[in-house]
Amino acid sequence: MKLLITNITALLQVRNAGIEKVSGAAMAELPIIENAWLLIEDNIIADFGIMDNCPEIMVDTIIDATGKTVLPAWCDSHTHIVYAGNREQEFVDRINGLSYEEIAARGGGILNSAKKLNETGEEELYQQSKVRLEEVMQQGSGAVEIKSGYGLTVEGELKMLRVIKRLREKYPVAIKATFLGAHAFPAEYKENHSGYIDLIINEMLPKIADEKLADYIDAFCETGYFSVEETERIMEAGKKYGLQAKIHVNQFTAINGIEACVKHNALSVDHLEIVTDEDIEVLKNSNTMPVALPTCSFFISIPYTPARKMIDAGLPMALATDFNPGTTPSGNMNLVVATACIKMKMTPEEAINAATINGAYAMGISETHGSIAKGKRANLIIAKPLSSYYQLPYAFGSNLIDTVIIEGKII
Ligand code: NIG
Ligand code: FE
Repeated sequence: MKLLITNITALLQVRNAGIEKVSGAAMAELPIIENAWLLIEDNIIADFGIMDNCPEIMVDTIIDATGKTVLPAWCDSHTHIVYAGNREQEFVDRINGLSYEEIAARGGGILNSAKKLNETGEEELYQQSKVRLEEVMQQGSGAVEIKSGYGLTVEGELKMLRVIKRLREKYPVAIKATFLGAHAFPAEYKENHSGYIDLIINEMLPKIADEKLADYIDAFCETGYFSVEETERIMEAGKKYGLQAKIHVNQFTAINGIEACVKHNALSVDHLEIVTDEDIEVLKNSNTMPVALPTCSFFISIPYTPARKMIDAGLPMALATDFNPGTTPSGNMNLVVATACIKMKMTPEEAINAATINGAYAMGISETHGSIAKGKRANLIIAKPLSSYYQLPYAFGSNLIDTVIIEGKII
C-alpha cells in the first residue's frame, strides 16, 4: 500500500533517524520542510522532500494537504489507561477543600482504584480501557506507554498487564507495558512493607517475566509510598528480569530519589514537580530522561515541573499525559503541549520536541518513532490549516487535528 501526501505547507520535526533525543538549547530547534510531500509505504515513511521534486508514481491514496501542517504523532510515555470505574467523587471532594494526600489517607486514591479493579473482570476491564485508547489515538497519540499498578495483588497486576497485551495486539498504536506493582502499599501491608515488596519480587515479577507481560518496571518513590531504599530494591529486582526502570519520583517531595534512579540507569524519571538543584546536577551527564506531566499539575493544583530551569541547565525534557483516574483523567497530548507552553514557559518548539522525539526516547522507541525520518513508522498528525504551528499550543482547547495516521493507516 502506498499513500502520498502532497502540498504540505509545513512538515515538522524532520530529523536524521539516528537522533534519539534532544537536550538543552537544541530543544529550541524544530527542523521543518515547507511545501513538502511525504510517501508512506505500508507502515513506514518511505521518503519525503520538497514539492518541486515530488515523484510521479502510482499510489493507492493521495492526500492533498494544501494549507496543512504535518508532524509526527505524539509519543505519550506515561499513562495508566487501564483502570476500572472512575474517581469523580474525589474530584468533588478536592473542590470542597480536601487535598490529594488527605483523600489518600482516608483510603481513597490509588487504593480506591485498586478495590474497583479487583472487583472488575478482565473482559470488562478491557472494554473500559479500549475506549480510552481509541480516544487518545483520535487525539493524535501514536505510541503509548501503559502501566499496571491498580491491582496490587498477584491476580490484579497480571489482569492489568494481560489487558495491556491484548490492547497491543488489537490496535496499531505502539504500546509499551510497565509493571507498577509498587504503586502503593495495600492496607494489609501497611505495617509490613517488606512483606509486600517480597510479594512483588518473589511472586509477581517471576510470573510477569514468564508471560513476557512487561517492558519496564516502575515504583512510586514518594513520602508515604515507597522510600528510596524500597524503590532501589524494586529497580534491582526488575533489572534481574531485564526490566529497565521508569520511576514516579519528586511529585510531592524531593527525597533524593532521582539520584538512586540515575544510579540504577533508569530510562526516565517522571513527575518532578519538586526538583532541587542537586537533582538537576545528578541528571546532567546521565542517560535518564526527565518527564513532566503538566496536566496532572493542572488537575490536582500542584506545582509544575520547573522545565525552564532544567532545559536551561542543558537537560532534555519529555512531556506525557499521566492519563489516570485520580490525578489526570485526560489523555490529550495536545492539551499537555499547550499547558507546557502556558504554565511551564516551554516554547512551542521545545514542547513539540518533548512530546515527540523525547517522548519516544522515554519509552525506548526513538529508533522507530518520534520524528519524520526515512524508515521510521508512518505515525503522523495532519493538522487543520494553521497560520503557523504556534497555533497548536496557542489555540488550546480547540481540536486542530484533521487526520491521524498510525502505522500507515488513517484512524
Ligand atoms: O502518576 N503518583 C502516582 N500515581 C499516579 C496517580 C495515581 C492515582 O491517584 O490513581 C500519578 O499521578
Ligand atoms: Fe503516573
